[in-house]
Amino acid sequence: MSTEEYFRIRLSTIRPDKVTTFEIFLKIDNRLVTYRRVGDRIADEKIEQLHQRDTGNSFFIKLEDKEKYRLWVREEMNSDTLAPNEKARILRESSLAIMEDLFENPDVNKALDESRPIITDFIDFMEKQPESMGYLISLSGHDFYTYNHSLDVGIYALGLGSVLGFNPKDLEELGLGCLFHDIGKRNVSLDILCKKGALDEIEWEQMKRHPQFGLMILNQNPNITDAMKAACFEHHESWAGNGYPQQISGNEIHPYARIVAITDTYDAMTTQRSYNIPMKPFDAVQMMKEKLAGRYDPDMLKAMHSVLFKLKTAG
Ligand SMILES: [Fe+2]
Ligand SMILES: [Fe+2]
Repeated sequence: MSTEEYFRIRLSTIRPDKVTTFEIFLKIDNRLVTYRRVGDRIADEKIEQLHQRDTGNSFFIKLEDKEKYRLWVREEMNSDTLAPNEKARILRESSLAIMEDLFENPDVNKALDESRPIITDFIDFMEKQPESMGYLISLSGHDFYTYNHSLDVGIYALGLGSVLGFNPKDLEELGLGCLFHDIGKRNVSLDILCKKGALDEIEWEQMKRHPQFGLMILNQNPNITDAMKAACFEHHESWAGNGYPQQISGNEIHPYARIVAITDTYDAMTTQRSYNIPMKPFDAVQMMKEKLAGRYDPDMLKAMHSVLFKLKTAG
């Protein structure tokens, strides 16, 4: 059975006690077998065992049921009985499957278009539940993959954009730009992306080209705005002018790219990777203010401080 006609989901987005309107399949030895039929409930003892198998690529639904799944998640977000931290988790996990697609689907244009609802769902959630940012932040940074990282950079940026007074339309554009900021890593070889330890000079040169690669990919899609392209192409520029690839400085750098520069570094510093120990949020911001001062827009860095330490409601 080919997985092309199927859409990957995270099992953790499905509450075991709630029946679904779509069938769920489990991938075993490259075959998809029915895991749960429409109307089934999962027995308690099976849940834990199965959740352990959910490495992010084992559970699927039929492509034609994708809209039903999206509605199902939306219903969960509107539920009166689910706690906000549960909702935040479901929203994040349901988005991760779409993000995986963004970095792996051969049809990058389709994947770019399909990631759009992720950001609108997050903005809706933030509007309906103002304390949601704290819960979303507390879920970030547990493991490092480009897609998790891109989503978390987007979540922090939505917080930062709100503190900076962005309107919903700009927030949406900023959030999407963040999801795509490292899209150029699709063109960097996996050996380099996954290498443990320092890159050699040639490898580093290739890695540093990901903003250009990203721009090339985004240029192919008519729905991507110039501001989103700037968020990608300029996110490794530095406020002081010694970044890459163009070495522009200060206000020459697009505001979205200045935001990504901050949320990108913050996420990298506070995320557990196999070869480093994550920094505590406060220490990471302190380091950005002191040792790395000069790289970031100082007003935005101050705003990031409020996002993390003043809005926070969840530990
Ligand atoms: Fe990057
Ligand atoms: Fe990044």
